[in-house]
Amino acid sequence: MRVLKTVLGLKAALQEHQKQKVGLVPTMGALHYGHLSLIERAKSQNDIVVVSIFVNPLQFGQGEDYQRYPRNIDQDISLCHGSGVDILFVPSVEQMVIQSQQMHYTVVPPEHLIANLCGPFRPGHFAGVATIVCKLFNIVEPDTAYFGEKDFQQLVILKKMVEDLNLPVFIKGCPTIHEPSGLAMSSRNIYLSAKEKEEAIGINASLTHAKRAFDSGQRLSSSLLALVKVSLQEKSPNFKLQYLELVDPNNLAQLEKIEDAGVIAIAGYLGKTRLIDNIIFNSQLPIVTIDGPAGAGKSTVTKKLAGELGLLYLDTGAMYRAATWLLKSQDISLEDNIAIAEAISSIELELLPSDSSKYSCEVYLNRERVTEEIRSLEITSLVSQVAAIDSVRAKLVELQKDIGKKGGLIAEGRDMGTVVFPQAGLKIFLTASVNERANRRFKDLQNQGIEKTNLEELTQEIAKRDHQDSIRKNSPLRKADDAIEIITDGLTLEEVCQKIAKLYFGK
Ligand code: PAJ
Repeated sequence: MRVLKTVLGLKAALQEHQKQKVGLVPTMGALHYGHLSLIERAKSQNDIVVVSIFVNPLQFGQGEDYQRYPRNIDQDISLCHGSGVDILFVPSVEQMVIQSQQMHYTVVPPEHLIANLCGPFRPGHFAGVATIVCKLFNIVEPDTAYFGEKDFQQLVILKKMVEDLNLPVFIKGCPTIHEPSGLAMSSRNIYLSAKEKEEAIGINASLTHAKRAFDSGQRLSSSLLALVKVSLQEKSPNFKLQYLELVDPNNLAQLEKIEDAGVIAIAGYLGKTRLIDNIIFNSQLPIVTIDGPAGAGKSTVTKKLAGELGLLYLDTGAMYRAATWLLKSQDISLEDNIAIAEAISSIELELLPSDSSKYSCEVYLNRERVTEEIRSLEITSLVSQVAAIDSVRAKLVELQKDIGKKGGLIAEGRDMGTVVFPQAGLKIFLTASVNERANRRFKDLQNQGIEKTNLEELTQEIAKRDHQDSIRKNSPLRKADDAIEIITDGLTLEEVCQKIAKLYFGK
C-alpha cells in the first residue's frame, strides 16, 4: 500500500494504473467497521482502491468539533493495509484547502436539498462536503466512489451533484453498519460515556419500532414519527432531539404518507455528542436479477420465472434490438458513433407484458409498436454490434434503471445485480461448470444438425469467453456481494426455477 500526502504524488501513483478500474472511499479517518465495509465493497468491484483520509475544515461550522475530531492515523494506516487498500491519500490542510482559498470556488448544493434534516442546523456544512468531494473526484478520477447511507442527506446531495454537473463517476450508496447493540457506527461514538452509549442504543431501536409498524402496513408519516418519539422518550430520555423527519429518499422532501419509499432520519445530542441515524422504508414491487456466464440457462430460467412469479420480464435483448431498429430506420451508419449517440440520447422505450407466448414483452419505440419488427433477421445480425457501442449501452442502462424505479420485474444479464439494479431484493448468480455448459451446447448444436462440433473445442471456447467476460472493462461479469449462487449442473429447468421461487417467496 502506498501512503501519499500530495496531489502530485497521488497522480503519479495513479498513472501506473491507467485503464484499471479505480474505486474511491473518501473518509475523515478514525476508521471503524462502517468505513471498512465501504472499502470491502470497493475492493470487490475495482482493480485499485484509493481511500482518502482528510478531516475537512470546510465542513465544520463554528463551535463544532473540528479541533477535537478523533484522529488516529497509525491505526487507520494499519486498518487500510489489512483491508487491501492500494493507495491511501492523506493530504494536509495546505494541500486541499489553502489551494481552495486561492481558488474561491465552492460547490453549493441546491436549496431544496439543504432546507431540512441537517441543513438548517449545520449551515455551510454540505457546501463544504460537496466542495471537498468534488475536488477528490477531480484529483483521483475514480470510476466509482463509495458512500454510506448512514449520512443519507450527504449521499443524496452528492448523487445529485454528480448528475447535475455530469461528473464522470458513479456513486454507490452502501448500507449503514451498526454495532451489535444496534448503535450506528460512527467515529464520534468514542466521545460517548458508557452511560451515554447505553442510551444511544435507543435511537436505532426506536427507528426499528417504526419499521415494524411500516411492515404491518402503516404508511402515515405522523403515526410512524409518533411511534419513534414515544419509544425514544422511554429508551433515551436524555437524547436531545434536533430533528425527526420522514422524507422522500430521492429529493429529501417531507412526506405525509409513504407511497413507494421513505426515510426517517433523526439527529440529536447525547451530552456533547451529536448523533445521527436513519431507516429506509421501501414498498416498491420486487426486483429479481439473474446474472451469470453465457450458457448457464439464464434466459430460459428468467422467462419461465417471469410467468410463474407474475413479474415483467425486462428483456434487455429486446431493448438493444429496438435501438438497432431505430438506427437502421434512420439510416445511421453503425460506424458513425457521433450520430448514434445523438440519435440514441432521445430514444423513448416502453416494455409491456405480452399476451402472446411468442414474445417476452411488447416493445414500444418512441410510442410506436415494434414488437415484431425488431425480431427480423437483419436486426438479429446487427444487434450485438450495436450493443457494444458505449453510448447505446449508457442510454439503455439509464432506461433500465428508470423502469426499475417501479419494480415488479425480473432481468437477466451480466451486471443486472451489480450495476443496473443494485437495490434488487433477490439476486441470483446462475452458473454451471464449463464442462456442463460445453455438454449442453454440444447437444443443442447436434439437435440443430450443426456438425462442426468438437466437444473439446467447445469447452475451450467457453472457458476463454468466461475469462474475457470477467476482465472486460465495460460491464464485466461479477457475482454481486449479496447474490445467491446456484450451480445448475445436474439440475433440470424446473428444479432451478423451484429453487429460485422458494427464495423469492421466502423473502
Ligand atoms: P466520515 O464520517 O469519515 O465517513 C466516511 C464515509 O463512511 C461516508 O460515506 C459515511 O457515510 C460512511 N460511514 C460512516 N459511518 C458509517 C456506518 N456506520 N455504516 C456505513 N457507512 C458509514 O462522511 C464523511 O466522512 C465526510 O463528510 C466526507 C464524505 C469524507 C467528506 O469530507
